Amino acid sequence: MVKLMIVNKMKNQLIAVSLSICLSIASFTAVAAGDEGVQLFPVDINVFDTAALQQGARTFVDYCLGCHGANYMRFKRLAGDLGYSEEEVEQYLLPAGRELVDTMTAAMDAELGVEVFGTDPPDLSLVARARGGQWLYSYFLSFYEDEERALGWNNTVFPNASMPHVMWELQGVQALAHQDDSHGEPHGDDSHGGHPNPADQFELIEAGLQSPEEYQRTVQDLVTFLVYLSEPSQLQRHRMGIWVMLFLALFAFLAWMLKAEYWRDVH
Ligand code: HEC
Repeated sequence: MVKLMIVNKMKNQLIAVSLSICLSIASFTAVAAGDEGVQLFPVDINVFDTAALQQGARTFVDYCLGCHGANYMRFKRLAGDLGYSEEEVEQYLLPAGRELVDTMTAAMDAELGVEVFGTDPPDLSLVARARGGQWLYSYFLSFYEDEERALGWNNTVFPNASMPHVMWELQGVQALAHQDDSHGEPHGDDSHGGHPNPADQFELIEAGLQSPEEYQRTVQDLVTFLVYLSEPSQLQRHRMGIWVMLFLALFAFLAWMLKAEYWRDVH
């Protein structure tokens, strides 16, 4: 009887402990998802899309390498990984005065960065691991004009970032949309499950060289490149994986043939 009571008590305790663990996990994820109301744009990043990687690398070299480096990457390595020949890397990606064996360091030196922006533009080698692809994609779509900031730009995903909108010529100029017209007609997009559309935060007040769809593609390719950059060996692993599977299949076939050969005379 006493034994039964103890077992029962233990059971109750166990249930209480697992319940509280569940609750704390649930509240933690709720906070993480809330993230002070930052709205992220949905995106699928496919790091095996070679065309996206090539385009992203070009955008990176053209628009980012002036301020940011990717100090763990050499230009030479991009040749194999991105499906380019070394000549193509020289032609499309290598800035003047640099060698193929050089690492992708920033053109600007760190001290100047601090002087101009108040902070040194960080190395971007691992930024995709720290921030995630969706955050990065949303960041480049969420710059808006803000006269109160020193460089005239602000960002809803990274409020008060000291980085200007370097691709504004491509995207055009966004401003924050007026959201206080609560008496107005609700937006069409609000109807599906109450999820606000992040794009509704902005209005394009000056068109860019690219259409909104083209700009989204540019950003998606750039983020694909940044995700690759944060773990270049993922491409090799994938390719090697295919060879390993082929080898195993061949080996299994040979083993089966051998077995058939051995057992033929036994029966
Ligand atoms: C004119 C210089 C400049 C250029 C060009 C530039 N950035 Fe930046 N970037 C900065 C500065 C400065 C910061 C630091 C912002 C801060 O911490 O307030 C920054 C911050 C960032 C961050 C946030 C890092 C973090 O996790 O805190 C990312 C991501 C980033 N830049 C990506 C890019 C990409 C990709 C490009 C090219 C499309 C680019 N930047 C071009 C100056 C620049």
